[in-house]
Amino acid sequence: MRLFILLFVLTLVSHATPYETGKKLYMERGCNGCHGNKAEGLHNYPRLANRAKGFLTYKLERFRSKISDNQQQEMMIPFALELSDAEIDALTTFLYEYVDEGSAGRYDDSYQTHGDGGS
Ligand code: HEC
Repeated sequence: MRLFILLFVLTLVSHATPYETGKKLYMERGCNGCHGNKAEGLHNYPRLANRAKGFLTYKLERFRSKISDNQQQEMMIPFALELSDAEIDALTTFLYEYVDEGSAGRYDDSYQTHGDGGS
């Protein structure tokens, strides 16, 4: 409860919306490493962007309870174990409401190879 109040106060002070808090957590906790910078998914890592908040919450709470349906999902357990209810709420708000802000400022594409393919 004290942590909750602390988080609440911090939220007020920093004026961070749940979306911004979730976005920060998504990057800090390394979710982007598997699910992608835009939560677009990759290979066996499912897309998370704009998926139903209820579904995402259900899955994260299950992983946090160490429940997985297959070996692939076990990979998620260590990441979910660290999440508080408030963090799951922020993350799922961010993912559900996800808006693609474009690649501006995210990737440095100023580097030009000028046709040399690294040979
Ligand atoms: C090491 C890679 C990895 C990282 C890091 C990771 N995940 Fe996952 N995630 C997975 C895999 C694998 C699955 C399960 C895919 C399957 O069901 O086959 C999954 C599933 C999920 C699901 C359920 C989606 C669905 O369609 O069933 C959610 C929600 C999720 N991850 C959120 C997160 C969040 C939030 C973080 C950061 C705290 C995170 N993941 C970090 C690999 C990762």
